[in-house]
Parts: sequence; C-alpha cells; structure tokens
Amino acid sequence: MNIIEIIEKKKRGGKLSEEEIKFFVDGIVGGSIADYQASALLMAICIKGMDYEETYHLTMAMAYSGDTIDMSDVGRVILDKHSTGGVGDKTTLIIGPIMASLGVPVGKMSGRGLGITGGTIDKLDAIPGFSSQLDMDGFMEHLKTVGFVDAAQTLSLAPADKILYALRDVTGTVDSLPLIASSIMSKKLASGANSIVLDVKCGSGAFMKDPESAGALATTMIDIGERAGRKCVAVITDMNEPLGYSVGNSLEVYEAAEFLKGTRQEKGLKAVVLELCKNMYLLSDVYKEGEDASAVIEEALSSGRAYEKFLEFVKAQGGDFDAFMNSYNSSGVHKKEVTVADVISAKGMTPDENSTYIFKSIDAGTMGNVSLKLGAGRVVKADEIDPDAGILFDKKMYDVVKAYDVVATLYSSDETKLTEAYDIFCSGIKLEEGAEARYSKSPILQIIKRDF
Ligand code: URA
Repeated sequence: MNIIEIIEKKKRGGKLSEEEIKFFVDGIVGGSIADYQASALLMAICIKGMDYEETYHLTMAMAYSGDTIDMSDVGRVILDKHSTGGVGDKTTLIIGPIMASLGVPVGKMSGRGLGITGGTIDKLDAIPGFSSQLDMDGFMEHLKTVGFVDAAQTLSLAPADKILYALRDVTGTVDSLPLIASSIMSKKLASGANSIVLDVKCGSGAFMKDPESAGALATTMIDIGERAGRKCVAVITDMNEPLGYSVGNSLEVYEAAEFLKGTRQEKGLKAVVLELCKNMYLLSDVYKEGEDASAVIEEALSSGRAYEKFLEFVKAQGGDFDAFMNSYNSSGVHKKEVTVADVISAKGMTPDENSTYIFKSIDAGTMGNVSLKLGAGRVVKADEIDPDAGILFDKKMYDVVKAYDVVATLYSSDETKLTEAYDIFCSGIKLEEGAEARYSKSPILQIIKRDF
C-alpha cells in the first residue's frame, strides 16, 4: 500500500477501504506521510466525498490514533458538548459551568479557531495563566473536583485530528462533511464522555450553509457516536448572524462572564445555551423523571452558582480572572466605532437623521472575515492570535435604529487593521429604511435525537 495510490484512488472518486484509511492515519501520525501528501488527500476527500462507512473508519482510526481517556472509574454519566463551529460561539464557556454547578460532570476537549470560526481554546488562552495543556491525570482530577474541564488536544489524544485540523485550516479543506464529522467525533470518542450533545451550526457563518447539509452532518455524527456506544443528541442552530454580542477571544470571554453573572444576556445566545443545557441535563444521571429541566437551568444562572463555577474552573486550570478583567479593553487596544450612518454612507447613500432603520442582515460569514482581518484568527498555520481583536456589537438583527446609533466597535492591537476591516464590516450589514420593530426568529432550527 502506498499513499500516492490512495490519493489517486480518492481523486477518481473511489471508495477507500478500512485498511487504506488506517494506513493514511498511521502515516500522518508516524511521520511517514508528508504534510503535502496529507493535504492532497484532504482536498480529494473534500471534492469527491466519503460515504458513511469511510467516514466511520476515518473517525475510528483518528480516535484511536493516540491515547483515549477511560472515564469509567468516575462511575457517572459524563457529558460533552461540541459545536461544529460558528462566529461568536462562546457557548462552551457558559454551558460547562452551568452543568457542573448542577452536578453534571462535563469533560471536554476543544479545538482552536478554524477558518472564520473561533475556537474555545483560543478564547481561554486570552485569560492570563490559563492552561489548556492538561495530561490525562490532570484532566481526570479537574473533572472529579471541579466538574468541568476543558483541554486542548494534547499530542497523546487524537493526534491525527490535531495534525489534520491544522492542515485543513490553511488548505481550504475545512468545509467537508466527512472531514468535519470525523474530526469532531474522533475527539469526542477519544475523550471518553458517554453522552454527547452536538450543536450543528447552519448558515453563512457555518461550514454547513443550509438545513439539509446541517441535518446530514448531524445524522452522520449521531450514527457514528451511537455505533461507538455513545448517546448523542444534535441541535441544529442558526448561524446567519454572529451569536451574542461579541466576536473575538477576550471579547467573548468577557461576554460569557457577563452572561453567567446575568448582567447582559443576548436573547439568541440565551436560546441556544438553554436548549443545549436542557438536552445535556436530560441525558445526565442527575435528571429526575418529570423535572422541569429548563427551570433548573434558569435557577443555576439566577442563583449565581453557575458564575461561581466558572471562576472555580478558570482558577483550577491556572487562570487569573482578576488579571483578565484588569487588562480587558485596556488602553493598548485600538478601537473604531461604526455607526448606522457610516454603513449607509459606505453603500453610497445618504443617511437621513429623522428616519428609523432596521437591520435585515448582519452576515455571520462576513463578520467572521472581519474578525480574521482584525487579528482574532489565523490565516496561515503559524499566525499569532491577537487576543484583544474582534467586534463588539451594540445592535443585533431586527433592532430598530437611528442614523447616529452605533452598530458595533471594531478592536485590534494593530491600528491599520481597523481601516482594512471597516469596509468589509459595512458590506456585511443590510438595513431597511422606515421599518417597524419585528421579532427575530428563534435560532433553534431542529433537534435530532433517537430513542435510547
Ligand atoms: N470542529 C472540529 O472539531 N472540527 C471540525 O472540523 C470543525 C469544527
């Protein structure tokens, strides 16, 4: 068997066998297959696809490409949640503490940003001292004592995904159903949780642009998870507008803390958080038949217990949250406010001070590109993240505004990036004049679960 034959076979649309897939995965981890060969096969998979059997074998080979965590000695149902990637998606930072404060253990392995979508590990890295590099003993220790642990992929857990994830990010091979499904599910299977809630994003800021492809990704991941003996539920959520008020690493950590404290809770973000938490709670061993899961979750938030758990989680992994708050939004960060009038002028029209306008679109895909431009993500593998870069929205879709209202503030440590990002930002906003307030749609599009 050799890698060139495997690449050629997939290039022609052939079906790879379990042995060929395992040969590829072992080769990238062992170093006998070069990055450029792996990239070529990734591109062939992107273009020609993989059927369910190939996707399942790829997932299993990746999941067992390194160590796996055995959580059985915790003697509990361990929950995990994973998002397929979105813009402004800080739900993990909120959901982990809520669930742990309810006594539901959440053991999670997260990724870094991929393409225009952010990654939880990059967000957590914005907290001084926070360590996501845990070994197996550290992971289990935090899970047992704090109840919520979030670790980056260490070299020993699903190392094949770590290698492929980084290559996909810089070779235009992210948006492929089999590659996304195997990437996510391999991490989930290696990190050992028994029950998994999947947040499958759908829209312009997601890899899956329409409900049909999001549904196909969701069912593929559920099928893989259940074949591997895990309980899985998928919630398909809208990603045509960034989630919450912020996009960017420090900005999102700050928003997550505000959400948990109850000081600012954007309603779309709240709807997604509550739906994911409810499904996790229903899968847990804490849930009692007939209990109102939504009320239990609301209480964890309003009592302040979830925020306390967030602080405990940050501290346990070495983070200094006071230092984060002291440096947040510091004088070293450059900012640019964008008003409704700026957006209208950028479209070559004249703003009318007496009119009201309504946001018809705040395009998530464009906002993901704006945040990349500002420095919040990576264009090439070696790019350094600017933790302070990003967008803080004052307004959300369907808000009724006046010409002098601020839409958002752009942040970057590099002033020149603000100007470059400004035009892209304005192009991503659609306004309608003279409109009246309308209610926005729920971001929860579909829930897919099987009978257990
Ligand atoms: N999240 C992952 O972990 N992998 C992907 O490929 C996409 C989102």
